[in-house]
Amino acid sequence: MRRGGEKESLPSRRKHTAMLKETYATQIESLLARYASPRSVVLPLLYIAQDHYGHLTEAVINEVAAILDLPATAVFEVVGFYTLYYDRPVGRWMVQVCDDVPCCYCGAEELIDALKQQLGISEEQTSSDGMFTLQRVKCLAACQRPPVVQANLSYFYDVTAERADAFIRFLREHADTPQGKSVSGYYAEDYEPDAAGNFRLIQRRLATYQPAAASNGHGPTEPDPSPPAQSELSESSPPTSAEGS
Ligand code: FES
Repeated sequence: MRRGGEKESLPSRRKHTAMLKETYATQIESLLARYASPRSVVLPLLYIAQDHYGHLTEAVINEVAAILDLPATAVFEVVGFYTLYYDRPVGRWMVQVCDDVPCCYCGAEELIDALKQQLGISEEQTSSDGMFTLQRVKCLAACQRPPVVQANLSYFYDVTAERADAFIRFLREHADTPQGKSVSGYYAEDYEPDAAGNFRLIQRRLATYQPAAASNGHGPTEPDPSPPAQSELSESSPPTSAEGS
């Protein structure tokens, strides 16, 4: 897990109140009912805690352990192992730039330099307004559209240094959407630049499967030609499960 460079003065999103059990009673009960062992609920409950408090302090980790009736070390070791759990304050947007070989060939280093300059921070630091934390990460498994950036687990493709300004502007404008509020990525989407260089949501369309066509040996049919529903960037209901990213 990457460490260091955080600004200690940044406030967490909510002060620790040990209210997870009461606030998320339904989700927690649902998770506990789903798995044979409370240990299996550590990961999803940590994501709930992280989104609620903004990051995972020692007190929060102890709270999670108490809810699951586990030794605190069983939760501490998970937080220490996985890079998507943050044990220090992070920005509204956790911006993770892939610096693996394909992305570097296509300008990842130039992009990182541009972001550092725009935000006035170095890697592993958070901007003074608390909006952005910048990190390098290894391959995000989207090498076909480099350079790739992950922001609160939303994917942004083709983010060249020339598009750094549009990218940051997009994130600022969407800071109060579910994507911006969930640092754990519950509402993560995919975005790409349009012809003007502004980032827009990528609409996904899945092929439908019709048994009649399959019985004729033709398998899955063509996608439904009707337009797909536009994914909403507006406020929506919280998830009923912490599983997601
Ligand atoms: S190398 Fe950047 S996504 Fe794979």
